[in-house]
Amino acid sequence: MPLHDKFGRPITDLRLSITDRCNYKCVYCRTGNEGALYGDLAFDDYLRMVRVLVGMGITKIRLTGGEPLLRKGVVEFVRELAKLKAQGLKPHSKDGASGAAEAAPFQIGEGQKKRVTRRSAPRNDNDFGGARDVPLTDFGADPLDIALTTNGHVLAQLARPLRDAGLTRVTVSMDAVDPDRFARITRVPGGFDHVLAGIRAARRVGLWPLKVNCVLMRGFNEDQIIPFGMFAREEGVIVRFIEFMPLEEDRVWSPATVVTLDEILARMAEYRPLVEIPHGRSETARRYRFDDGIGEIGIIAPVSHPFCGHCSRIRITSDGKIRTCLFSVWDHDLYAVMRRGASDEELAEFMRSVVQKKEERHHIGEPDFVPASRTMVHIGG
Ligand code: GTP
Ligand code: 5AD
Repeated sequence: MPLHDKFGRPITDLRLSITDRCNYKCVYCRTGNEGALYGDLAFDDYLRMVRVLVGMGITKIRLTGGEPLLRKGVVEFVRELAKLKAQGLKPHSKDGASGAAEAAPFQIGEGQKKRVTRRSAPRNDNDFGGARDVPLTDFGADPLDIALTTNGHVLAQLARPLRDAGLTRVTVSMDAVDPDRFARITRVPGGFDHVLAGIRAARRVGLWPLKVNCVLMRGFNEDQIIPFGMFAREEGVIVRFIEFMPLEEDRVWSPATVVTLDEILARMAEYRPLVEIPHGRSETARRYRFDDGIGEIGIIAPVSHPFCGHCSRIRITSDGKIRTCLFSVWDHDLYAVMRRGASDEELAEFMRSVVQKKEERHHIGEPDFVPASRTMVHIGG
């Protein structure tokens, strides 16, 4: 029986943090003074957790951190993950990119429900593959979708080995296309060129779709919206703007610091209008294309347009705790259960009971908002 929470949401998506260390100190995330707070586990321990969860219907695994590429052995770990085959729900078959339409006006319809799809890579610089979905007919069994969120600093060297090991796709965090601004945000000099090289290497080896995440924070980078629109078109990547959430170490969030979806659309329209295109039901981002069909933009708007109603995610932190929501005020010590010698079935039972406690929604901006018990860098994005 695939995992469902008590609100009937299928849980198909696991985010696994493999370290809470990070070599960047982004202003919207870290104070710049704190380091890692929690340890990490042996890859074999993560592998066992993932294997049990895959047996329970997890079809998508995203490696996060901290910065996951700081962890030695990550390529081998991806190779081991890629040997696991998705069971139960097929990738995207219930509510992913080809899920059933319900609440959102622009969701891909029932017609594609049974197909496992993967977006094709662009064939040349003017061919933006993000628009076309093609069936994954060349896989024998159901492959796991293995994605990675990285700051991209060391991606240029690792893109090919990761792809060869079985990584499906990559998302790079990049919050400015101007190198000086980038350094001011990350608090690391000279990082921009590394990240750009990482993005280009990933695209070159076919880690696709290639998404670039940009957290917008008022006063820091809202003037980068249009330059990022141009970047998406020129580089053939999907740029996704993220509304800043109160998950930072510094507690600098206030509603006024959030650059909202409406504002992003209005600002981009000064450059070129965007046209909304379908997105999967549990996808975090609303998707847009420019009016001439070139270049895709996503907007992740958890503050102004929450998407909790279709949340399909659970998280495991680097130290082996399950978190049922980014904004959970407690976590559940899966590693402790494992260390006590639990069998796979007992682990599965524990996971099932934890999923039943998944929160209905977050309360960002409401009077009863209670900050999460960990900040983003210690949870995993
Ligand atoms: P795809 O699988 O490619 O759709 O990626 P994704 O959007 O699921 O993953 P990614 O790690 O790129 O997430 C993008 C951003 O969305 C994160 O950095 C968070 O800011 C936000 N986000 C992800 N999951 C959640 C969630 O469960 N709740 C909220 N409020 N925000 C989330
Ligand atoms: N609000 C929104 N997104 C955030 N990220 C990190 N902190 C925040 C925050 N407070 C994003 C990063 C990266 C992913 C791991 O999470 O930019 O894309």
